[in-house]
Amino acid sequence: MSTYEPVAIDHERTASRIAADVDALAGPEYTLASDAICRYAYTAVYRATLDYFTSAWRDLGFTVYEDPVGNLVARNRAIGERAFGIGSHCDSNRNGGKWDGTLGVVTALEICRLNLELGLDLPLQAISFLEEEASGFGQMVLGSRIVAHRVDELDLRERIRAIDDGRPFWQHAKDAGYEPERWRECAHILDDLIGWIELHIEQGRVLQDSGNRLGVVNAIAGYVHGDITFQGRADHAGATPMDVRCDSAVPAAQTIVELERLARAAGKGTVGTAGEIEVRPGLINAIPGHTRISVDVRGPDDDAVHGAVVALREFAEEASAKRRVTATYAERQAVPATPMDGRIVGALTDAAAATDEPHMSMISGAAHDTMCIAGRVPSAMLFIPCRDGLSHTPLEHAEPVDAALGAEAILNAIRLVTAS
Ligand code: HGY
Ligand code: MN
Ligand code: MN
Repeated sequence: MSTYEPVAIDHERTASRIAADVDALAGPEYTLASDAICRYAYTAVYRATLDYFTSAWRDLGFTVYEDPVGNLVARNRAIGERAFGIGSHCDSNRNGGKWDGTLGVVTALEICRLNLELGLDLPLQAISFLEEEASGFGQMVLGSRIVAHRVDELDLRERIRAIDDGRPFWQHAKDAGYEPERWRECAHILDDLIGWIELHIEQGRVLQDSGNRLGVVNAIAGYVHGDITFQGRADHAGATPMDVRCDSAVPAAQTIVELERLARAAGKGTVGTAGEIEVRPGLINAIPGHTRISVDVRGPDDDAVHGAVVALREFAEEASAKRRVTATYAERQAVPATPMDGRIVGALTDAAAATDEPHMSMISGAAHDTMCIAGRVPSAMLFIPCRDGLSHTPLEHAEPVDAALGAEAILNAIRLVTAS
């Protein structure tokens, strides 16, 4: 058992500071939408959000910089000196709430404040990763995948394109004043890290339903993202007899139902979602000539996930052939299930226990930047509850006092790791 004494913080004061930051960043200058949080890479509202954090960390005496594509880094030690990493992402889902991601960066900022006020002098480096949500370019955890070199240059120059205007990521990064040609150097932001902890809302309802205030994440579910394009023929809806149609929407609809069946049949926590459904020409009196569905399959068991995707592709091709339609699958990206580091998980568990508040160990069904960090830096995550598990919706809500409890646990976990 460690000899250190856990520090206890003033939860109310920390909760009010966290709430003030989260509420400020929900203001109109930080979101493109009036009825949700909507901010993503290289938009003015995202720039304003980075500026907010830059100013706050500089006020604490931190050195703040952005890497060649826009991952934000703030540290209280000179570059080259060892530090413990904390942070998350501050971009949002396009129909986002004000807690997903942003709470993790705000709590990292608060931990930096507490470190100063309590005179702990812990070596800290905060990171806010670019484009975790896929809202700008359709690619989740893009900033941290660049840091982890899980993309190649052709992806950045050509394949990854903006949802809004179809222009390459590379161009948008340059237009925003960054240097994408130096993207490989982004890996260096992890060079001096002795560990990493990301605080995040659970985005499910396990903590709420079990009455736990903290969730120590021991593994993050892997995922496969792809698209299936069904190509038929856009004929007249009235004049075309049923047995000569090439209706692309029908096999697409059958494939969506099959995705649900395959995910259930795979078991082991596998889930499947077709969140994007695009039909063209999309007119009441025209047979859909082109239908695209997105495919999101996730789970802690990679074989179950990949097996479901292979079976889905085969189903889509067979169902399409029966209707004179072709089905083409294209993978967007795949990230394997990621175990967390036992030592960091152990420190977080000890620190959570020291709060005397109910806590549990759990798996993350949602993806996080920590998946891309864990390959190089001993990492773990800490969840706090969100109301009814709602997330990726403006109805998302979390309690700042739970984030304050999380801040105390992370502070003590970092003390445990850096002291040993
Ligand atoms: O979808 C996810 O898992 C993450 O919230 N972007
Ligand atoms: Mn998130
Ligand atoms: Mn999210």
